[in-house]
Order: sequence, then structure tokens, then C-alpha cells
Amino acid sequence: MSEQEKSGTHYAVHWQEEDYYYPPAEFVGQANMTDPKVFERFSLDNFPECFKEMADLLDWDQYWHTTLDTSDAPCWKWFVGGKLNASYNCVDRHLAKFKNKTAIHFVPEPENEPIMHMTYQELYRRVNETAAVLRDFCGLKAGDRVTLHLPMTPELPITMLACARLGVIHSQVFAGFSGQACGERIWDSESRVLITMDGYYRNGKLLDHKSIGDTAVDVAAKLGQQVDKVLVWQRYPGKYSSSASMIEGRDYFMNDLLKTYARTYVKPVSMPAEGILFLMYTSGSTGRPKGVQHSIGGYLSYVAYMSKVIQDIHPEDVYWCMADIGWITGHSFIVYGPLAIAASTVIYEGVPTYPDAGRVWRIAEELDVNIFHTSPTAIRQLRKAGPDEPAKYNYKFKHMTTVGEPIEPEVWKWYYNVVGKGKAAIVDTWWQTETGGFLCSTVPALAPMKPGSAGPGVPGIHPVIFDDEGNEIPAGSGKAGNICIRNPWPGLMQTIWKDRDRYVSTYFGKYNKNPESKDWRDWPYMAGDAAVMAADGYVRILGRVDDVINVAGHRLGTKEIESAALTVEEVAEAAVIAAKDEIKGTVPDLYVSLKPGYEPSQELVAKISGAVATVVGKIARPNKVYIVPDMPKTRSGKIMRRILASISNRTDVGDVTSLSNPEVVEHIRKQVQG
Ligand code: WT7
Repeated sequence: MSEQEKSGTHYAVHWQEEDYYYPPAEFVGQANMTDPKVFERFSLDNFPECFKEMADLLDWDQYWHTTLDTSDAPCWKWFVGGKLNASYNCVDRHLAKFKNKTAIHFVPEPENEPIMHMTYQELYRRVNETAAVLRDFCGLKAGDRVTLHLPMTPELPITMLACARLGVIHSQVFAGFSGQACGERIWDSESRVLITMDGYYRNGKLLDHKSIGDTAVDVAAKLGQQVDKVLVWQRYPGKYSSSASMIEGRDYFMNDLLKTYARTYVKPVSMPAEGILFLMYTSGSTGRPKGVQHSIGGYLSYVAYMSKVIQDIHPEDVYWCMADIGWITGHSFIVYGPLAIAASTVIYEGVPTYPDAGRVWRIAEELDVNIFHTSPTAIRQLRKAGPDEPAKYNYKFKHMTTVGEPIEPEVWKWYYNVVGKGKAAIVDTWWQTETGGFLCSTVPALAPMKPGSAGPGVPGIHPVIFDDEGNEIPAGSGKAGNICIRNPWPGLMQTIWKDRDRYVSTYFGKYNKNPESKDWRDWPYMAGDAAVMAADGYVRILGRVDDVINVAGHRLGTKEIESAALTVEEVAEAAVIAAKDEIKGTVPDLYVSLKPGYEPSQELVAKISGAVATVVGKIARPNKVYIVPDMPKTRSGKIMRRILASISNRTDVGDVTSLSNPEVVEHIRKQVQG
């Protein structure tokens, strides 16, 4: 058995190639990027100077002298010598032309609450006032870290931009994450300020959110990180919507503090290009989440360019990305990219199918949205809840994006024909938290779409597929391997926060042959996905090769779920696998064995499932919990997750005779499959 098979990362390629779909002429006629020479400009012969084309989308206080500095390989430094401010680039510089244009359309979940249209002028004022609170009341300065645990309301981008204005590093934790998860991230980032909100709407309920922040502060304190101030935004300014008490001398309402700073102007701090814009924690193959560290100049150049060239955003478009800003998609493609190029960006607070399957299309119609961006999971959900709903509404998309997971050609075709009404160009964008922006996608006016394929590398990205020995797998061979990027690019993370070794070993360890090398050619970036490249260079992503599960386009670490299960007294061993799911792509199935003397019961199943939801967050709640007599193990004692995955997914378990306990496999199979 090969290493790949042992770890369950071995993929069979069994689909057929799909036909091309060509972008509508109407789209091509108005597109931002119609010059096929863009790929020549971004060829490896022109590396790295070609990336000037991206940086030139920004306003620099001081222009850089070195495009790429490789002296600390593979921690690349982009646009060295340059100085800029991200908040200035996303807000101030648009005032001259777009002061009265909407920057943010905020759609509350309750349909009877009015939509708020916030102009660039108003965004500017609110970012300044918020920055004043952070600087003058909290004493925060460039380089400090602040944890945000904010839901999908305008206060989230306002707070992010206020941090960016000061050079303060924000670390936004997805609001759906538990107090435990948030507390660990406060601790790892060493934040002494937490910014949260009292409550927000989800599925018709006003959730109590502030209390989760209280838990987070306690968890951080136990780990050794003291939080001195908790700033609380109010969902309804002036009214408190949480049952948690406000702790004197620690907790403050933003609404009260802001009164002191009304109309204050805060000068944007001119930051080095290689300063840190934010941390975004993501799951990896060990229990400890990694703080992916993104730069100011490189990241912002990259997402601005991608928003313009791949998302095709013009200032006059209405652009709606339905992701949560708590994930990288929202950071790059709701906030930083679109605002850097003066878009009108939509923020929707709630659940796409609330109160019914027509909600999304009503919002699109009401706001005249013409660029729409979402995940395969949301598309599957909307299709299931109301396959004929889009036809009932009078909206018209010119462009649509799918992101986060592989999309089945069937689902893609519904998106194209029914949601897009056959009139929109689609891009399937493959990328990661670590990569800042897109890696593979078609340039929508320049290349046809192929259902189920992300497409070739975007301008500036040169993908390659390697086998386990580091040999290139030629395009069109039909063989899968590890997808890597040959070259550095400005959107790539700088490192893992406080853990350079983990950065180097996780992403470069397998294919770098000389750790001393300062030549970027020696450092292909390994994404951790299995993929296959067709003869036309289009890439199909097959899934993760590491211990990461992708649920509804969100990344979860198996180790995090397993250690949460192990917090339950009765549990001896736990193993999580990705089970196929009609809506969410994959979902976690959890297998556990009990300590001697305990018996399986329904109550215990509920307790284990509840523990995972409390420790990690509701999104990690297992689809199924199976209490099994023993885990299938190798002779060296390694749990064979691959076998459990085959059982959950009803595929062939293969040869199990070399296990230390082969008889348990059939027992588990009967238990699960009946
Ligand atoms: C993982 C990254 C990219 C932002 C959202 C998720 C999977 C992402 C695609 C796609 C197939 C995709 C990969 C990747 N993935 N986009 N278009 N087709 N798979 O960010 O949480 O960092 O997860 O999501 O497996 O490695 P993330």
C-alpha cells in the first residue's frame, strides 16, 4: 500500500470531459480584460516585474524599489521600499469621484427592516471615527493585533478598515465559531482587545452573540492572554440586544465611545508594503489552527487586480458575494478587493433561504445586482429549495462566480441556465486562505468555461501537477497528483504567524530540494489539493490530500474535531472522515470507541456531537456519530481513516488483511450500512 493510499489521499479519476461554454458577446463587449496578451505579459520570462501591473492599481505614498526580494526564501517580500495605507486605498481615494456612490448595501435578514445604502463618504466618516476609538481610547498602534468576532453587518468592514488605517493587524474570527475557538485565536495572536457585537439575525432569530465573546475572553485568559477591553457594537445602536452582562472597566459600547470622536479625522498611517494587514486562522493537519499572515501591499494589489480582471467589477456594477467576511473569501472579495476598485458591495446578514427560497433573487432584483458570487453548497441548497424560483424574479447577472469546493457539472449547468438565465459568464475560482486570491480560473472574456473545471492559472500563476516523487505529470495524461504553483505571487501569505517552520514545511517541505536556495524556482508552493490537468490546461480539483475536510466550502481540521470528541469523558479514540453529501459536498462522520466500562447509547451520541459543536462551532457538528467497538488499525497502531471513509461512502474497503484487527471492519460496515 502506498503512503497516499494509507492516508486516504488516493483518487480515481472517472469523469468525462465536458463541452465548452462561450461567454456571451454582451459580456465580452464590456469586460475589463479583453487583451489576450495579458498571459504573455505575465509569462515566467517576465517574472517578477510583470506584477507591477497589479501594484499600479493602488495609490502608493512611496513607490517601491524592488519588486521581489527573495533573500529570506520562501518568505517572499513584494514591492519592497513601497509605502501605502489599505484604508486610504479602499476609501479616501474614491471620494473625489464616488463620494455619493454606494460603497456598501447592507441587507438585514428580517425582510421588513430597510436596506441600508452607505455611501463612500459615510464609510469614510465611520472608518475614521472607529479608528479614533481604537487609537485614542484603546491606545492601539501599528503592529498590534486585535481580534474581531463580528457577524455580517457593515460594522465588520468598518472595523477592519479602521484597523488598517492605523496599521493595526486584525484577526477576524468567523462569528459562527465558538467561544473556545475564538479564545484560542485571541491567545495565539496575543490580542488585548476583542471587538464583538451584541447580537445578529440568523434564520429568523436574533442570536445572543456577546456571551460567546465572554467565553472567548475567559478561554484566552486561561491560556495566558489577558484581554483588557471588549468593544461591543450594537445591532440596534443605543439598544442592547444580549442577555450577557457588561463588565465594568472591561466592556464598552462602541455607540457610546463613538460620540466622543464624532467627525474626527484620523490620518492614515503610511505602512511598508510588507507590513501585516491581517491574520486569518485556518485549519491544518494538526489541532492547532494556523494564523495565515497577509501583507498590505502584495495582498491588496493582488485582490484589487483579481476583482477587476476575474470578477470584472466596474464602479457602476452592483456586486454581491454571499460568503461570510469571517472567511478569506469575504476578506478578499467582499471587502478589500471590491472596495479597492470602488465597487458597490452587498453585505447580507442572514441565511440565503430565509424566509423562503426566493429571498436571494428578491435581493438581486431589488438592488439590481449584476455580479453574483457564491459557493457550490449555496447553489445546491437554492436549487433544492426552489429550482424554479430564479425565473420568477427580474434580475440580470452579467457574471457569476463559484468558489470553495468542486462543483458538479449538473449543478454548474443549473447555475448557468437557471440562475444566470444563460446570459452570464461563470468563473469557477480555485484558491485558498493562504493564497490571498484566485489561483485557477478562466479570465471570463478571454476563455470559454468548462463545467466542473476551475480553468487554467490566472495571469501571474503557473500551476503544475507533481507526482509523489516530484516528477511533472503532463497535462492531458488523465493522472492526478499534487497541484503546486511554480512561482511566488504577491497575494501569497507571508508566513504562518509566529511559526515560520510550519509555513516552510507545510507548503514547501515536500518539493523543495535545497532549503538554502534563494532562487524562487526551487520553491514550488504545494497547495495540498489533488488535481488533474486536462490537455487544454484546465484544472479539476479533486479534494484535499491532508487531514482537512471541506464542509460547505469551509475548511475544518479533522484533528480539531477529534480532540473535541476526546473532551468527552467516555471517549477513548476518535476519527473523523469526509462523507459525501448531496448538499454540502462533504460532511464530517465521526467514529469513536469508548473507554472500558462504558456502553454506547443515544445520549452519549448526543453528548459527543454537542461537545464538537461547543468546542469547535456548530459548522463542525458531525453528520453522524458512530460508536464502534474498536478502530481499524495498522499493526503500528495507526487508525485507518481511509477504511472508515469507504464504509461511510459505501465504496470498496479494499484489502484489509494487513490490519492488526481486520475482523472489526466487517462489524463496523454492518453497523453503518445495515
Ligand atoms: C480549499 C481551501 C478559496 C476560498 C474559500 C475556501 C477547496 C476552494 C475550490 C474550487 C474545488 C476548491 C480546495 C482548497 N477549494 N476553491 N473552485 N474548486 N475546490 O478557502 O478554507 O482556505 O479552503 O478549498 O480544497 O484547498 P479555504
